Amino acid sequence: MSDRHDTVRAIEWRDDHLLLIDQRLLPQESRYNSYDDPQAVADAIRAMVVRGAPAIGITAAYGVVLAARGRYTALGEGWRSAIAADLDLLAASRPTAVNLFWALERMRRLIATLEAGDPTPALLAEAERIHREDVAANRRMGELGAALITAGAGELLTHCNTGSLATGGYGTALGVIRSAYAAGKVARVYADETRPWLQGSRLTAWELVQDAIPVSLLADGASAHLMKQGGVQWVIVGADRIAANGDAANKIGTYAAAVSARYHGVKFMVVAPTSTVDMSLADGSGIPIEQRAPEEVLSLAGRAIAPAGAEAWNPAFDVTPATLIDAIVTEKGVVLNPTTEKMAAMMAS
Ligand code: MRU
Repeated sequence: MSDRHDTVRAIEWRDDHLLLIDQRLLPQESRYNSYDDPQAVADAIRAMVVRGAPAIGITAAYGVVLAARGRYTALGEGWRSAIAADLDLLAASRPTAVNLFWALERMRRLIATLEAGDPTPALLAEAERIHREDVAANRRMGELGAALITAGAGELLTHCNTGSLATGGYGTALGVIRSAYAAGKVARVYADETRPWLQGSRLTAWELVQDAIPVSLLADGASAHLMKQGGVQWVIVGADRIAANGDAANKIGTYAAAVSARYHGVKFMVVAPTSTVDMSLADGSGIPIEQRAPEEVLSLAGRAIAPAGAEAWNPAFDVTPATLIDAIVTEKGVVLNPTTEKMAAMMAS
């Protein structure tokens, strides 16, 4: 498939440092920040310079490379014990996306096998492998997910940002949308603006405009009314963590979209790589839900939009029960009407 519909990259390793596009500044400004220590990388994840489950995992893997390099330069072989604190720091950056812990575990397993000497080249190769594998998984999910969309489906609805900015490249749900658009199956993408952080309007619309895919933004509260019109065939979203039974945590508002979709007879698709699946949790009730600062709700673009004295409740994610999901698409295959048994079979394949 042509790269005309995939022009953005959020994460780059260039020469000897990590570059992250500062997603807080988009769409007004495309600025890359440079990182060379793990504390700054953990801060960037927490502050959402970089966000989106796969992108957080990839960034943390590069954070481990920076940590190992710094510790080895300062301490020689003492780097092995010193790096535990850096891994803890990266792990504490955000709680919900399991890709973060998955990537750190993969780096930790490699560290355990390394012999004496500079660990940087081997760790960098592993981080780059994680990055490449994510793009390949997205491409595969793009094909699998697009195949579920019937020709002439016309309209799709998505929530949050699941594109190149949220991943190693191409995207999960947005990858499916890109593939379906390239196959001529999509006339228009509707994107929820995704309050409070506006990933839909600031990031998804930006990616789609860059790639010349027609996009209409709507306020989150307008999506039920949109579905009632009858044009939307699929709601397509990503995930931050999927439990063993298929319950899926994703950006706050996803659950409401799934309830509305079922009510209106609209199909609901979750697209995520297997690095997002947490088989240690039987169902979604064990998924930690990040609570973020009230200011994200009480203000907009730095301006107060609520009276002083009002408080805010700001969960960053919700959990959509598997019973509301028609299809989970991973790089290993499609699980229709997910159950624990079907998820286990897909993971084992
Ligand atoms: O708080 P964010 O912006 O990191 O939340 C991102 C999401 O909820 C995405 O939908 C999810 O990570 C899937 S991204 C491919």
